[in-house]
Amino acid sequence: MWSENFCKLLSKNQYKLMVSSSTFADIESVKKICVKNKSYKLMRFDEYNIKRKCLFRKLKYVAEYVNLELGFANDRMEINDHVIYIMLLESEKKVVGYLEALPIFKSFKILKYEDDVITLHPQSISNTKIGISKLWTAMEHRQIGIARSMLDECRASFFKNSNTSVSQFEIAFSSINDNFIYFLQKYYNGNLNDILIYLLEHN
Ligand SMILES: CC(C)(COP(=O)(O)OP(=O)(O)OC[C@H]1O[C@@H](n2cnc3c(N)ncnc32)[C@H](O)[C@@H]1OP(=O)(O)O)[C@@H](O)C(=O)NCCC(=O)NCCS
Repeated sequence: MWSENFCKLLSKNQYKLMVSSSTFADIESVKKICVKNKSYKLMRFDEYNIKRKCLFRKLKYVAEYVNLELGFANDRMEINDHVIYIMLLESEKKVVGYLEALPIFKSFKILKYEDDVITLHPQSISNTKIGISKLWTAMEHRQIGIARSMLDECRASFFKNSNTSVSQFEIAFSSINDNFIYFLQKYYNGNLNDILIYLLEHN
């Protein structure tokens, strides 16, 4: 449960998720979804468009908010090879979903997950293609398919230029937590044995 002070801090930082009509104006949406009369637009950013100054600043703001909410260190935003997907709630011009991914080659199956501690299988899996470093949906828009849409689209279009589509078993995650497990259980049809974890130092 978040403390009152942390909620205040999040609310003070909400402006980082707001988008002016010009910011993403010329970014084509890769997917549109409509749930409960709300329209959401998914956009893909890679090193070619992220480098544009105003986009970089906006994406950095969004990443800062996501890092704050998830308790991640506010590291330097990596753009080389990285692909970012943003889900925008069109009516409010607000970012409500964020996925950050990078190319990787090796990952590990989970041997044990208990009390937030992961034990990995010692043998790595070598045919891994994408690492998901961050996946986030805004609280008020959860469990309506936003994270699933972003992840599916990432698998379909991460390697946009080579038209390589990536299966569920060729992606790995940087970490898991109790809340994320519920999502993964659905995404892997209950087979938690299929979840892969990557370590940057092994890639
Ligand atoms: C994990 C997270 C990204 C899921 O996002 P989401 O947009 O709510 O997920 P979806 O709506 O696409 O969920 C897909 C399925 O999983 C289910 N699901 C997702 N979260 C669930 C939960 N907490 N409890 C039960 N079921 C859950 C959905 O109901 C849906 O089921 P369905 O396919 O039967 O309809 C979101 O809860 C989140 O941002 N959590 C905090 C950040 C985090 O832990 N990120 C992961 C590590 S970086």
